Amino acid sequence: MDLALSFRLSIAPERLALAALLGVTAGAAVLTSLAKANSQEIGVYSGRHYNTDKALYKQFTKKTGIKVKLLEAKDDALIERIKREGANSPADVLVLADAARLDKAADAGLFRPSRSASLNRDVPANLRESKGLWFGLTRRVRVVVVNPKAVNPSSIRSYADLASPSLKGQLCLRNRKSVYNQSLVADQMILRGDKAASAWVKGMTANVTQPFFSSDTPLIRAVANGQCGVGLVNSYYVARMLAGSNGASDQRLANQVKVRFPDPAHVNITGAGVVKTAKNPEAALRLIEFLASPSGGRGYAEANNEYPLRGFGDNAVLKRLGTFKADGVSAQQMGAKNKAAVALMRAGGWR
Ligand SMILES: [Fe+2]
Repeated sequence: MDLALSFRLSIAPERLALAALLGVTAGAAVLTSLAKANSQEIGVYSGRHYNTDKALYKQFTKKTGIKVKLLEAKDDALIERIKREGANSPADVLVLADAARLDKAADAGLFRPSRSASLNRDVPANLRESKGLWFGLTRRVRVVVVNPKAVNPSSIRSYADLASPSLKGQLCLRNRKSVYNQSLVADQMILRGDKAASAWVKGMTANVTQPFFSSDTPLIRAVANGQCGVGLVNSYYVARMLAGSNGASDQRLANQVKVRFPDPAHVNITGAGVVKTAKNPEAALRLIEFLASPSGGRGYAEANNEYPLRGFGDNAVLKRLGTFKADGVSAQQMGAKNKAAVALMRAGGWR
């Protein structure tokens, strides 16, 4: 059936009569607005950029008939873009990595609250915003990578162990600008209190004698080749290297490091919310529900070697790394503590 015909057939007779009354031009406008309602399309702005995500959006369209118009860019650029676009923004859903960024977008008033029984069931309470502004979709862990020739892996049992003076000159860290480290520090402030967290940060920075890194992957390489003894990185970067996605050389390097899950582990999320100015909030919520559901969520997590919202998933590389015990800290609280964490890091010499 051609598209124009299918719209015509689905128009109620009284609307057609109305269109006739209003004349041809206005009638066309009625047709256009009805076409919009019928062809349900949502705009998705996503800070994720994995080809496998697209397959999942296609699956959603097949299931619901709702088309997804995707715009991928860096998380902070998307936040700025929606602010700039205001009421005219074509975004219905905003997907961001890290609780701190989700909190930032919520603070800027970019999300509208949603209520959903399925999201309340599928997303653990500590991984969603309490008013339904955003919902966690996948999980990642800040893990410790160790070069076993330089540091005994079993000496690293917790994040606190990284402040041990025995690691002087061995510890390498990514810089303070990294939202991943900011969220880890916020997490430790909540878990252990500001005083202990501050002493911990100072202890760690005292162990760092090399320049701070600007991203996680080069840090893993540096640990693997012995430039550093131990480092802190997100789990999916190691998994990506181990899977061979970055090529054979990175795969070889990743096989030389030991991955330690601190006990308990700091868990962060990728998450999404319905945009305040969404033209189609119901359809937007359906996409978030799909991505958080056990079936949709598995694919979303696997696309980036992440963990699903519950359990550890089926990713063969992640299975090899073993399991972890999450510290249970609320992602919302972590996000809210971001500014305090950055200040504590600066005071503690984290460059
Ligand atoms: Fe990342």
